[in-house]
Amino acid sequence: MKALILSGGKGTRLRPLTYTGAKQLVPVANKPILWYGIESLVAAGITDIGIVVSPETGAEIEAKTGAGDRFGATITYIHQASPDGLAHAVKIAQPFLGDAPFVMYLGDNLIQDGLADFVADFQQKPRGAIIMLKQVVNPTAFGVAQIAADGSVIKLVEKPQNPPSNLALVGVYLFSPEIHQAIAQIKPSARGELEITDAIQQLIATHQPVEAKELTGWWLDTGKKDDLLEANRIILDEYVLRPNVLGKVDEHSKVSGRVVIGKGSQLVNCTVRGPVVIGENCQLENCFVGSYTSIADSVSMSNIEIDHSVVLKGANISGIHRRIVDSLIGERAKLTVSEHRPKALRFMVGDDSTIELT
Ligand code: G1P
Repeated sequence: MKALILSGGKGTRLRPLTYTGAKQLVPVANKPILWYGIESLVAAGITDIGIVVSPETGAEIEAKTGAGDRFGATITYIHQASPDGLAHAVKIAQPFLGDAPFVMYLGDNLIQDGLADFVADFQQKPRGAIIMLKQVVNPTAFGVAQIAADGSVIKLVEKPQNPPSNLALVGVYLFSPEIHQAIAQIKPSARGELEITDAIQQLIATHQPVEAKELTGWWLDTGKKDDLLEANRIILDEYVLRPNVLGKVDEHSKVSGRVVIGKGSQLVNCTVRGPVVIGENCQLENCFVGSYTSIADSVSMSNIEIDHSVVLKGANISGIHRRIVDSLIGERAKLTVSEHRPKALRFMVGDDSTIELT
């Protein structure tokens, strides 16, 4: 069994962060989203992994993720020249996939359920495909499945205006090699893409059994800010199990709960309440860092309070006199206040940024 991770796309919903970087590399609890998917596949015994990348962000993904050694996997990069749909990505990956059955995994999805049981089930009882579903409140934003009373899949529709159910297609699929013939028979959709939902519908039309499994654990599609903060909260809760302080914490600081502080970082007169991760080579002075905050490497912060937020690499935040909450601060971003109680605020704000003074 092989795996194909789709990691292209432009990440328009996470702009401005994704003007400069791939959405799949945005960190959750200081680890790129994409890596959770790779680890989950390896944990299910799949180590031959292809990653489909786009010309815009492929080099960055490849440089950061590497050939797979760190995961105990072999990674092959497959270049998709333009974003022509998920089924198109499978089409161009055919030389890599050969006639192997495979897991297709969308690189910005995170699921709590392990994949091992699904993979074992699929290997024991081969069928056209297994799809995963989760009930959502906004089905119009997803692929949606209509399921018969016996659990078989009747119909799939992509981003329907009138959804036939509230069961969204999660971005993890198991396919038999028959999917390639199905893809060869479909035409681009109204938005000009070869849709994987149409290819699965084609499997159903040609009487290949497609089975749906409803996930029991959480599912996060991290394409937007609030989803990313939610992913950060859940992952900090589930993955940061014990404190691990490698950096220096002075005697005036109070660090409580599950807090990870990377090497080379220094905390002076700070209060940190876990779960929190602080990366390497950070400088924090006179700060309060509240629960569910992730601070990446090389961040400087002084005289601030921050809670339930994600701060990316090299950001510099100082002197903001109100607590920063529910925020996502981009790489190398600078947030400062020049006086203690400023009478005026001075901004230089990039396209698509959001600043909310409450
Ligand atoms: C894609 C799929 C959709 C699925 C979703 C899950 O949509 O086309 O069927 O429900 O992923 O994340 P996209 O995120 O590309 O809009």
